[in-house]
Amino acid sequence: MSNIQEKELILVVDDTATNLEIISHLLKHTGFEVITAMDGEKALQLVQERQPDLILLDVMMPRVDGFETCEKLKLNPETSDIPVIFMTAIVDTESKVKGLSLGAVDYIIKPFQDQEVLARIKTHLQLRNLTKTLETRVAERTAALSQALKDLQESQIQLIQKEKMSALGNLVAGVAHEINNPVGFIAGNLQPAINYIHDLFHIIDLYQKQYPEYVPEIHEEIAAIDLDYIRSDLPNLISSMKEGVQRIRNISTSLRNFSRADSASKTPCNIHDGIDTTIMILRHRLKASPNRPDIQVIREFSNLPLIECFSGQMNQVFMNLLANAIDALEESNSGRSLDEIQANPNQIKIKTSLTEDHTNVVIRIQDNGVGMSNETQNKIFDHLFTTKSVGQGTGLGLSIARQIIVEKHGGTLEVNSVPGQGSEFVIIMPIKAEFED
Ligand SMILES: Nc1ncnc2c1ncn2[C@@H]1O[C@H](COP(=O)(O)OP(=O)(O)OP(=O)(O)O)[C@@H](O)[C@H]1O
Ligand SMILES: [Mg+2]
Repeated sequence: MSNIQEKELILVVDDTATNLEIISHLLKHTGFEVITAMDGEKALQLVQERQPDLILLDVMMPRVDGFETCEKLKLNPETSDIPVIFMTAIVDTESKVKGLSLGAVDYIIKPFQDQEVLARIKTHLQLRNLTKTLETRVAERTAALSQALKDLQESQIQLIQKEKMSALGNLVAGVAHEINNPVGFIAGNLQPAINYIHDLFHIIDLYQKQYPEYVPEIHEEIAAIDLDYIRSDLPNLISSMKEGVQRIRNISTSLRNFSRADSASKTPCNIHDGIDTTIMILRHRLKASPNRPDIQVIREFSNLPLIECFSGQMNQVFMNLLANAIDALEESNSGRSLDEIQANPNQIKIKTSLTEDHTNVVIRIQDNGVGMSNETQNKIFDHLFTTKSVGQGTGLGLSIARQIIVEKHGGTLEVNSVPGQGSEFVIIMPIKAEFED
């Protein structure tokens, strides 16, 4: 609503001084503020300086007439909303219609009745104020609704993210658990097995010492199995079994760490472990297939400190980016022969480094897959944007990744890509968490 204290401003345009004077007097007397112009040109100039709330416009004027003035006012978005009332001596319908079709809200026929003029002006000022209020309300409501929609989408993303992650986490934790038991048997039995073997060798030694006579059958068997070689090789064999068991245990531990996704606060994490475990989980997709050799994963890891982050969420980011890279490589392979792929092999490069001031970590994930046009690049972080067919992609991977990096970790996630050559995703995020979220 307009301020009651403030007088409403009316611009009166007429080429006859007497008319101007009469109307001005009437309006001022009623409580309006009035400015006047004697031709269209001057009127347009005045409107630029100060916007009136309403314009009374004479039709017949030299040079720029009322119609033309009105047309110009309506063309300019800044002045198009000001209500214009034509004042005309002509009573023919044609010019009334023309005036209204040019955007005037009303017309008054000269000579006019004071009360009629005032009534019409007041009605249109009121209408204008109502429209303005309505517009403000609609704008406020629209803003509130857009915010609500944005909030809804975000919580939806978070829900899906949690669901995806907890499904994967459960699976991974389940697998890790299943592996743990049999590995436990092996690890637990390895030492007794070594002891038994030692005992058996000891018995053999004793026999050889106590019964030194030559028995051809035993001698032949000893030669056949190469007893000396078995003795010397057995320790190697055992230690490689121990090593293997230890490796499986490490894998199982990192799987369990991976699945411990939603810890409530940020903890210092080894980002490289997260990347390696993710590569391990995606190994089946990196392996050679009849159509292509292995996808090469090149890790260029630099010396990094522990990073304060939500490790489960970070793993999800790596998972989404690496899965996309594999998809992009698969897509680039379609239509290429095995020879062509071998000549320019599928590659994913993962580089980590610190920024010069040692406050941020930079993680680059690069592929030489299909790449993206600029148009696609502009949309990839949008909720539900995908170029993949139904069932292949939901279009959530990158919006989730961006949310995790930007909103949860105060970092940035950017893309560089050239169609036909490949893409690079760059994560930059602080080593130390500034705030807990
Ligand atoms: N490495 C990449 N190379 C080429 N295009 C990519 C790459 N990463 C993402 N894109 C493009 O960005 C789009 C959006 O990726 P996003 O991960 O958000 O969704 P998606 O992979 O289609 O589905 P999902 O929800 O299963 O991840 C992809 O459909 C693809 O067009
Ligand atoms: Mg994806």
